[in-house]
Amino acid sequence: MILVTGASGNVGAEAARLLGAQHHPARALVRDAARAPRADVEIVTGDFERPDTLDAAMRGIETVILVSPAVPAQEIAVIASAVRAGVQHIVKITSKASDDSPVERRRGQARIEAYLETSGIACTLLRANAYMQNLLALAPMIKQSRGFVMSAGDGQVGMIDARDVAATAAAVAAKAAAHAGRTYWLTGPDLITYHDVAEALSDALGHEIEYRQTTPDAHRTAMIRAGVPEAVATSNAKAFELIAEGDAAWLSDEVAAITGAAPRSLRTFIADHIAAFT
Ligand SMILES: NC(=O)c1ccc[n+]([C@@H]2O[C@H](COP(=O)([O-])OP(=O)(O)OC[C@H]3O[C@@H](n4cnc5c(N)ncnc54)[C@H](OP(=O)(O)O)[C@@H]3O)[C@@H](O)[C@H]2O)c1
Repeated sequence: MILVTGASGNVGAEAARLLGAQHHPARALVRDAARAPRADVEIVTGDFERPDTLDAAMRGIETVILVSPAVPAQEIAVIASAVRAGVQHIVKITSKASDDSPVERRRGQARIEAYLETSGIACTLLRANAYMQNLLALAPMIKQSRGFVMSAGDGQVGMIDARDVAATAAAVAAKAAAHAGRTYWLTGPDLITYHDVAEALSDALGHEIEYRQTTPDAHRTAMIRAGVPEAVATSNAKAFELIAEGDAAWLSDEVAAITGAAPRSLRTFIADHIAAFT
């Protein structure tokens, strides 16, 4: 039995849907039953802040697909619960994590990975490039002003559709032993700049969408003014600054190698989410 955490989110909901469609025995953990994914799997409610609910969700589980907002204490609580339950394998969704990253959430991911390493549970790390789903956060601005503000300069991103992260996670979890101890770097099919994003949106919407370049500092201030929590705005601005410097300009073919299907392009993502931008 496979447990998917964060099953109302981008990756978790799709991983649960795919496991159900492929008839793998699976359970999806959500904190609010009303937000359970439409998936042919067992649904369990629980909270990363409540270890008793995690222990209940973990009963009979062999493999966990670990996805969450990646607050270290919360993911560490899930891993500790998995240890208590005798879970054999964890497929962890992560990013370009390192102890000395200037981006706080990447340092947090490194802490979680270090804990996972000491847990004794076999694991597979899925290190994903930036998600196309992040573009949905720009949708209100795009609808309102026919453009978006961004501080990523001309930097390229091997942007990936989170549905392909989910497909990879589901494929790995279904044959976990074959992937023990491996780290996979997941990207979409193309290196994309935010100029390319503006162009693809312009084509899809039939009117021009403008990429309004700004500095990381001004972007951080604008995000805070728009209601983004200060720590998140600081982390995002730093991540965009790194993108401008080429930090996300990497591609791999690991999604296709593991799932057997090419990852989705930006234009497919936009076509599938066009309603959000109109
Ligand atoms: N975004 C990117 O560009 C990017 C790139 C690389 C890697 N990643 C990694 O991808 C992961 C995030 O994936 P995602 O986009 O699928 O996340 P997401 O859409 O934000 O989903 C987060 C999930 O966690 C659940 N959750 C939050 N707090 C909880 C709690 N206290 N107890 C139980 N559940 C809780 C949420 O439930 P609710 O629906 O109830 O809130 C939701 O199901 C992170 O590890 C991140 O580092 C992201």
